[in-house]
Amino acid sequence: MDDLIQTSDGSYTLFSERFNQHFHSINGAKTESLHIYINLGLKNFKNSKISILEIGYGTGLNAILTYLHNTDLNNLIFYHGIDNNIIPKHSFDKIFSFITNNDDEIEKFYLSGTQDVYISDDFLLHKELIDFNKFIPTKNYDIIYFDAFSPEVQPDMWSYANLGKIINSLNQGGIFVTYCVQGKIKQTLRDFGLNVKRYPGPPGKRHVLRATKI
Ligand SMILES: C[S@@+](CC[C@H](N)C(=O)[O-])C[C@H]1O[C@@H](n2cnc3c(N)ncnc32)[C@H](O)[C@@H]1O
Repeated sequence: MDDLIQTSDGSYTLFSERFNQHFHSINGAKTESLHIYINLGLKNFKNSKISILEIGYGTGLNAILTYLHNTDLNNLIFYHGIDNNIIPKHSFDKIFSFITNNDDEIEKFYLSGTQDVYISDDFLLHKELIDFNKFIPTKNYDIIYFDAFSPEVQPDMWSYANLGKIINSLNQGGIFVTYCVQGKIKQTLRDFGLNVKRYPGPPGKRHVLRATKI
């Protein structure tokens, strides 16, 4: 079972025994998620109808912060989260007691299981319990949040074929964001036609990455 850990900004994350890695930065789980996925990803879209694909849905932190921060951005969001594991309810409750007290809507992120659910009129959640290696995209996306464990512990997740298949499903002008800036990953993204840029990272991380389909 994964252990709950409090990170430097007070928010919680999980430690995966299997991969010997935290789900988020121990220097601030919420801070990291906001920095990479919300500020560099979501905030590029306003008053738009958008689809978001997340690889490594995990606790739902990126999804829930997307939902909460979309109030100001006013997008109509289809959110597709991929994971092959479901975290325990008590871990979910602890993690989100720190993030918000908007209980009824936040509960839906967990209790819906893998059924499509409207969290609100402008946010449709579609969680899929599947091994990413077997996932075949059938939709197009405007943003990809790539939040797998690192290439050192899970190289298959970052393989040429796996990155290629989801980048091919990215719309023109679409955005791919991740915490990993390794040369090999950047080159793969370029090979699939993305314009790759490094950005300053959250506390404890020098750089993060945003790539755009031009
Ligand atoms: C770094 S954590 C993701 C953190 C998550 N984005 C969050 O906000 O909590 C990586 C996730 O990848 C998932 N994962 C690992 N191997 C996978 C696979 N083969 N297919 C799909 N998901 C996988 C793990 O279960 C874990 O939830």
